[in-house]
Amino acid sequence: MAAAAGLAAAVAAALGALLMAPGLTQPHGEGSPEGSGPGPLGGEEAAAAAERRFAGRMDQALLLVRNEVPAQGLRLAALSGACHQCLYQFLAFIPPSNESLKKPGTAAVMVDTQHPLTLLLNSSVGDRELCKIQYHFGEFGNYSLVVKTLSTSTKTVSCDLVINEGPINSYLPILFAFLVYMGILAILIAGHLFMKIDPVRNWVYKKLNPRETDRLINSELGSPNTTDSVSSDPAPRLWSTASRQRLRSLDTFRGLSLIIMVFVNYGGGKYWFFKHESWNGLTVADLVFPWFVFIMGTSISLSLSSMLKWGSSKQKVLGKILWRSFLLILLGIIVVNPNYCLGPLSWDNLRIPGVLQRLGFTYLVVAALELLFTRSGAESGILETPCPALQDILPYWPQWIFILTLEVIWLCLTFLLPVPGCPRGYLGPGGIGDFGNYPNCTGGAAGYIDRLLLGENHIYQHPSSSVIYQTTMPYDPEGILGTINTIFMAFLGLQAGKIILFYKDQHKQIMSRFLVWSVVMVSQIVT
Ligand SMILES: *[C@@H]1O[C@H](CO)[C@@H](O)[C@H](O)[C@H]1NC(C)=O
Ligand SMILES: *[C@@H]1O[C@H](CO)[C@@H](O)[C@H](O)[C@H]1NC(C)=O
Ligand SMILES: *[C@@H]1O[C@H](CO)[C@@H](O)[C@H](O)[C@H]1NC(C)=O
Ligand SMILES: *[C@@H]1O[C@H](CO)[C@@H](O)[C@H](O)[C@H]1NC(C)=O
Repeated sequence: MAAAAGLAAAVAAALGALLMAPGLTQPHGEGSPEGSGPGPLGGEEAAAAAERRFAGRMDQALLLVRNEVPAQGLRLAALSGACHQCLYQFLAFIPPSNESLKKPGTAAVMVDTQHPLTLLLNSSVGDRELCKIQYHFGEFGNYSLVVKTLSTSTKTVSCDLVINEGPINSYLPILFAFLVYMGILAILIAGHLFMKIDPVRNWVYKKLNPRETDRLINSELGSPNTTDSVSSDPAPRLWSTASRQRLRSLDTFRGLSLIIMVFVNYGGGKYWFFKHESWNGLTVADLVFPWFVFIMGTSISLSLSSMLKWGSSKQKVLGKILWRSFLLILLGIIVVNPNYCLGPLSWDNLRIPGVLQRLGFTYLVVAALELLFTRSGAESGILETPCPALQDILPYWPQWIFILTLEVIWLCLTFLLPVPGCPRGYLGPGGIGDFGNYPNCTGGAAGYIDRLLLGENHIYQHPSSSVIYQTTMPYDPEGILGTINTIFMAFLGLQAGKIILFYKDQHKQIMSRFLVWSVVMVSQIVT
């Protein structure tokens, strides 16, 4: 049974990596406010050009800046609210107004609408800060920022944001979709309830399948063929429960993750919460991979126990594990590199890490660990343990020591490894983050190890931090060091699988253990 589950996980993962291949992701850099500002000249033509470009740009709004202050140009800079400890990014220069023509200086810029922005206006004379405005622009909105002199004597200016055209509500489509699905669900539930009413059900069956109804009626009346239908029915059912029983909760979780993954990888409607977070934070998209890893851990526990139960030798199972991880890693390397269709794999910029590679390696480590250290009888509770409440953990102490050692290595490398040019234990995105002090430190020790061991050309080139944080360093989200945490994640999934196997059909025991584990995990995160 669980071999099929493992296979399903592998196929799902293969599908996932296929969809996550960098060649299929949308071009990045669109959401950035700075990529779209006009040149430093500004003026009428640039404004017109910006308005032309404006047509149909997602997640952007048009901002027209009017400078009515004479003899003083303006420098407009912006800072995204999603950018933690970032530098202001120059957007546009607004020329001074021409008093003899009574014409204000203008410039048009596109601004990001996904996150709140802080706009900063500096005078070009003496780089004095004139005003600072915090605002969350709305998609497809048309705004004007009017800068006027309040009093010529004190040189104070006023900055007013005017809405020319209101934004659209980009959440309406997803709300609509949600309501439609809820409606369909409600209809299904109502139909299900209706079918429970006997007269309705009989009527429906009669309409759909008059023969079936006859059979039902006959069987209730005790017609001659009931005897063999009774005697032949239970046998196959017994057989099927014994050999093909699947863990429905695991399958449901897997299906749910798969649906979200497919949705996310097909763009997720370009909503920010269906995209990967640029660096700090968590979105729905960021959950899919850890979920798959957890599911994989649980499947390992189920499949190993069933393989061993049905009499496979440890060597044979180990061979299977090795072969499967080899295939996963190979598939990953082929799938993740889009230039494989341009001819033979070119080594120059082959990306080595990837989603499938990480899944494959994690599978190898966790499955081999579990296989090699599990003493027979541990999972059925035959072994004597000093503390019965922990009998699903204590027999597995070698695995726990191995995993905890790995975690200690991760902690030491992350926080103690000296990275040239970067502070020790740096965890930020680099780029313009951390006030632009460490532009090349993307990913700290994790990024450094990948660049050192694999080379800059063999890792992911466009991390999600390149949009908001404008990082230029390649950084691989599936790098070497992070694999340790993936292994830990899969190990937790494995523990969940053990609990399910160990306390089979004792739902209270299973739920209370899951509850304790979640409390432990959450408290670990909080501290
Ligand atoms: C934005 O509003 C300004 C002022 O009302 C108008 O001149 C301009 O044409 C508008 N631009 C777009 C793209 O709607
Ligand atoms: C105002 O515009 C006129 C005509 O284009 C130009 O000759 C003059 O130099 C401008 N004045 C300033 C202060 O830019
Ligand atoms: C604006 O002015 C402030 C102080 O006057 C200065 O610290 C800041 O760097 C300036 N910002 C830009 C983008 O020029
Ligand atoms: C970061 O790397 C780029 C390109 O490799 C280089 O031009 C730049 O000087 C580096 N910056 C720092 C602060 O080391």
